[in-house]
Amino acid sequence: MNIYTFQNESGFVQTAAGIIASLVNTNPRAKLGLATGSTPVGLYAKLIEMNKEGLVSFKGVTTYNLDEYVGLPDNHSESYRTFMNEKLFKHIDINLAQTFIPNGNAADLEEECRRYDRMLEENGPVDLQLLGIGHNGHIGFNEPGETLHSGTHVTTLQEKTRTANARFFSSIEEVPTHAITMGVASIMKARQIMLLIRGEDKAEIARRALTGPITTECPASLLQCHPNVVVLLDQGAGRYFK
Ligand code: F6R
Repeated sequence: MNIYTFQNESGFVQTAAGIIASLVNTNPRAKLGLATGSTPVGLYAKLIEMNKEGLVSFKGVTTYNLDEYVGLPDNHSESYRTFMNEKLFKHIDINLAQTFIPNGNAADLEEECRRYDRMLEENGPVDLQLLGIGHNGHIGFNEPGETLHSGTHVTTLQEKTRTANARFFSSIEEVPTHAITMGVASIMKARQIMLLIRGEDKAEIARRALTGPITTECPASLLQCHPNVVVLLDQGAGRYFK
């Protein structure tokens, strides 16, 4: 793992954006695995800026998002489809038809999971998978436990995850109880993984994930087995990596 800690926000964001932009400039038909949440918001804003300045084009790029809530309409303000459209897609020159997110409203969710896996299998592997990390060590919505799933599946969100995400909703009752998420094997198939970790509140989980034992109780620790991972930490999250 290549682990870098940044003293300021601009270095963190510029490095992350630079990694994606150089990949896309080298391979204009790159396939990107994308994440939502607060962590990549600055990165997406930087990519929008670079796109507008003509430094990178996403015309040929295809994207696959990690996860989506179950039961939120696509146009709900907190669906991950809305998040991606608002925070990135509608501001760049990407073809929206080439952006894929699991459908959390499918009539048959199990079939939707299999469809997403087939698509990943036929079109993958992604060239770069972007990840954030939950306070409990989840990646995507692969929550810690005795076992993990390899493929895309419906997962029950842990209370810690729902509490953390309640900040985006008016009350915790509104946070969906389930989500569709890519599994750990699909994530690990990416040619390269870029894990972003921000904030003092993530310092402990960063240490556990990056230096602790590899265990399903901390799904992000599995990334230690991947041959090509870059981890960017801001000053707060990087307390143990100076
Ligand atoms: C989001 C995702 C999650 C988040 C994680 C961190 O698509 O897959 O694993 O990356 O919950 O969320 P934030 O960035 O909001 O702290």
